[in-house]
Amino acid sequence: MEKYVHGYSRREAVRLMDQAKTLEELFHYDSVWPKGSKILETGCGIGAQTKIIAPKNPDSQFYSIDISKDSILEAQKSINILGIKNVIFQQADIFNLPFEENYFDHIFLCFVLEHLPNPMEALAKLKQVLKPGGTIMLIEGDHGSTYFHPDSAEAMEAVKCLVEIQKQLGGDANIGRRLFPILQEAKFTNISISPRMVYVDDSKPALVEGFTKNTFSAMIEGIAEEAVSKNLISKKNMQKGVDDLYRCAEPGGIFCYTFFKGFGTK
Ligand SMILES: C[S@@+](CC[C@H](N)C(=O)[O-])C[C@H]1O[C@@H](n2cnc3c(N)ncnc32)[C@H](O)[C@@H]1O
Repeated sequence: MEKYVHGYSRREAVRLMDQAKTLEELFHYDSVWPKGSKILETGCGIGAQTKIIAPKNPDSQFYSIDISKDSILEAQKSINILGIKNVIFQQADIFNLPFEENYFDHIFLCFVLEHLPNPMEALAKLKQVLKPGGTIMLIEGDHGSTYFHPDSAEAMEAVKCLVEIQKQLGGDANIGRRLFPILQEAKFTNISISPRMVYVDDSKPALVEGFTKNTFSAMIEGIAEEAVSKNLISKKNMQKGVDDLYRCAEPGGIFCYTFFKGFGTK
């Protein structure tokens, strides 16, 4: 990956943590593997998902890898603080995995394929280290699933800028809808896809704060400057688009987004 669209800033770290914490139940009520499993988590970043799934599966051993050394160090730190003992962190590249073939019982990844120019190759590499009969579980977003109230052409334009920037980097911000065909092409079996819709209104203040504001609007705000400098949108429209997204986190605002969780067996 030449450049990662959201970067590795402190602000992005906070956003990833907010996202994971806010969506913990929605994403992970079924992130449970049989006791004694050896699980590879790829692209663990700063451990935002790790610190949820590892304690949920205390009798399994996690091997959590990321290509970014700084992220791994950060992840290790926060797992230590929480006293979680069943994770081994390692800096490693999905495309050059330092594990024997058929080593893992299960594989987990979250928000990783959407950033890769070659997700099929990544799945092929992951499949190699997965035991026959082992499973893959993955979560991806789909920015095309975004809608909100009050509606705003500029906010939609701003969201499309992120899709375009991610595309220019070789990724696909709308990959969620493709999980089924992708897993099929990678020749996994027993494939199933579970859409996880986040619907936010005033009755869910934690989601207003954690998702509408701190996850989604912050994510678009994070690429605002780059989008304007690349002439994908005027400065005026980007500013209004970001303001309108934050407006959806004010009283009366509504926000809707669908993530996709996929399952497959080798
Ligand atoms: C959007 S972050 C997701 C982090 C974490 N899974 C989460 O949900 O918070 C994507 C992560 O994938 C990592 N990544 C990208 N390409 C990779 C590769 N080839 N090998 C390992 N990790 C990679 C990035 O460094 C980044 O930490």
